Formats: sequence, C-alpha cells, structure tokens
Amino acid sequence: MSIDKKYIDLIVNVTSKGAISASKFIGKKDKISADQAAVNAMRAELNNLNINGKVVIGEGELDEAPMLFIGEKVGLGTGISVDIAVDPLEGTNFVANNLPGGLSVISIAEKGNLFQAPETYMNKIAYGKNVPDEAIDLDFSVEKNIKNLAEVKNKKINQLSVCILDRPRHKNIIENLKKLKVNVKLISDGDVSGALLVTDEKYNIDLFMGIGGGPEGVLAACALDAFGCKFQGRFIIESDKDINRAQKMGITDIKKKYILSEIIKGDSIFCATGITAGDLVNGVISNEKKHITETLVTHKDSSLTKIVIKEDIIKP
Ligand code: FBP
Repeated sequence: MSIDKKYIDLIVNVTSKGAISASKFIGKKDKISADQAAVNAMRAELNNLNINGKVVIGEGELDEAPMLFIGEKVGLGTGISVDIAVDPLEGTNFVANNLPGGLSVISIAEKGNLFQAPETYMNKIAYGKNVPDEAIDLDFSVEKNIKNLAEVKNKKINQLSVCILDRPRHKNIIENLKKLKVNVKLISDGDVSGALLVTDEKYNIDLFMGIGGGPEGVLAACALDAFGCKFQGRFIIESDKDINRAQKMGITDIKKKYILSEIIKGDSIFCATGITAGDLVNGVISNEKKHITETLVTHKDSSLTKIVIKEDIIKP
C-alpha cells in the first residue's frame, strides 16, 4: 500500500516548523536549546496529523529524552499507521556556530517498514543509481571499491570523488584514497547530507563512505531509496550497553551488513528542511512578515524527488 500523496505537504510542514524554530538559535552557541526547539515544533505538528504514528528513531530512549523518544506515539491516532524516524536537528554544531548544513529531517514509512536502529555508530557506503550492486561492497577494500567504481562509471580513478566525515577514525581510508589520487570531500559533520550527495551529478560525488550515526544512516537510506540510489550499512555494536539495546530492538546478528531493502521497505516519505544553507537546500530566511523554508522531499511510490519552498506567514 502507498502512503497517500496528501501526506507529503503535511510532512514538509513538520520539518519546516522544526527548522524555523531551530533557526532562532543559529549562531547562539547553544546546541541543546536549538535541538529542543526543533523537537518541540516537530512534535506539535506531528500530533496534529491524522496518523497513528510511532517514533522508531528519535531523540533517545524515554528515560533520556522527554519528547520524540523511541516508542513515543504521535498523531491523532486515526488514519494511516506509520513508523517515523526523526532527526529534528541534524548538524547541531552547524546551527550553534552558524555554519552551512543544519537540517531538520524526518522519514515515514508504513508500520513495520522502517528499521528501528540503535543509537550506535554505523559503517556506511552509499552510491548512485547506475552502479551495479556487485560493484560496491562495504566489505571490499577501499581500493577494490574505487577500481570497480571507476570501471563501471567509465571514469579514471583520479576523476572520482568520495565524501567522508573528517574524523581520526577515517585516517586509513583517507590515506588510501589519497594514494589512489581520488578527490576527497571531507565534511566536518552532517552525514545525512553527505550520503545524499550521491543522488545527483551536480554534487560531483561518486561515493559516500565511513562511520557515522546509525540513525542518520537509516534516514539517508530512505531518501536514497526514492532516488534509486544504493546504501549498505553495518551497526557498530560493541559495548555491553549497545548489545543490550540492539537486542531490545530485535537485532540478533549484531555483525550483520544491511542492504537498503532491509532498512526501508515499501513506500516512504522523506523531508529535510534547511536550517542553515547547505549543499542540498537553502536555510530558513526570515523577515518580520514571514519565514521561507526549503525542503528536499522524496516520496518513493510516486518517484517524487524535489525541493519544496514554503512561506510561513507570521501571525501579527
Ligand atoms: P548531531 O547533529 O547530533 O551533532 O550529529 C552530527 C553528526 O555529524 C552526524 O551527521 C553524524 O552521523 C554524527 O554526528 C557523527 O558522529 P561523531 O561526531 O561522533 O563522529
């Protein structure tokens, strides 16, 4: 069954409101208040919707987060039953420091169709739609993935570009890429955006790889699915606490490599509204009369991938 298109605009509204609320904290060096503002606004919008929603990826567990926690029920309790993944403020540093790339993000899928990811790291790889499945594998060496990618894309290795989070844990990968003479785009944060750079040639990114947040991986996977792009991920579940959490979420094989179709099934809607301007979307623009937001929207079943610009009139 599809998620009716009428929900698209309603969900855009959820992340738009989240972004507008967080935008009041741009450059205020206060990640927590910015995040809380986005959470409050998104939750209020979700609770007005004609959905029977359950948060499967949210702001943490009930004892850690007062709102949009994993397991929280949202919506009016009527209408379609959906599972919801939210990252009300993706890129807390970006917003706190007025840097490009802060987003409010959500994905919804029909009940049972969205992976309930533990809040652990995930090793990820994402690539574009015209690359055959067998060419790229999370378990191949960097060299093998790059050589295969060059071959299937009919490019020279030094024409390939890879996006990766700038972290010490990626030292070896980055050194290998450098040796191969691949162009490396290092990002300081925001790997939902990073992964989505493989969706369009205009971003000039052939491959996204490396370790980032697991929930961010699931969110990116939803949008990648609608773009027809590919994603593989493996949670990094090492401590006893993480093993416990993963087991509570029904993960039995903690070393499993997940492919996109195991992370998101069936129809989905994904929305990412810019808080500060970034690669994917512009940030919130406000004056005394209105706020203008830009949202990247995907709807899997209608193959919709577009940017929606919304005006939110400020009530006098
Ligand atoms: P926050 O918005 O929660 O600060 O996350 C930003 C982010 O860069 C994510 O995009 C990424 O998945 C994760 O942090 C990486 O974690 P770490 O900063 O610990 O390497």
